[in-house]
Amino acid sequence: MEYGKLIQAAFEAQRKAYAPYSGFQVGAALLAGSGRIYGGCNIENASYGATNCAERTAFFRAIYEGEREFKAIAIAGKLSDSDTFEYCAPCGICRQVMSEFCDGEDFLIILPRSQSDYKVYSLNELLPLSFTKKDME
Ligand code: THU
Repeated sequence: MEYGKLIQAAFEAQRKAYAPYSGFQVGAALLAGSGRIYGGCNIENASYGATNCAERTAFFRAIYEGEREFKAIAIAGKLSDSDTFEYCAPCGICRQVMSEFCDGEDFLIILPRSQSDYKVYSLNELLPLSFTKKDME
């Protein structure tokens, strides 16, 4: 898979973050089975617990549009007063949301600091021994 386009989309999504409380701005770009890319940003709230992460914004947008299969997500985060992106790993809630719709072996999570500096993990690597819909059958 060529990651360049997805990484670029994550950097673009990061600029849309609404993060006045933490100042930590995150963008995510989710590649669906259809080939479409869905962007998402974190959306904070004065009641902090109502905050939605960038990854879930991207997933919920895509699910609403009818997508049910996903290939990869790129996540880019940094403090608003910094010029440097750090590897931004998804939180536990977002990993669980991914596990509802994504194959643990095949779904890739790309953490870019730049176009040439990034890490790639499978969902299983970041969420081993997960509780999924298979456990509900
Ligand atoms: N955040 C994300 O959107 N995604 C992550 O992967 C890590 C954390 C957001 C939530 C909150 O708005 C801010 O970053 C600080 O936790």
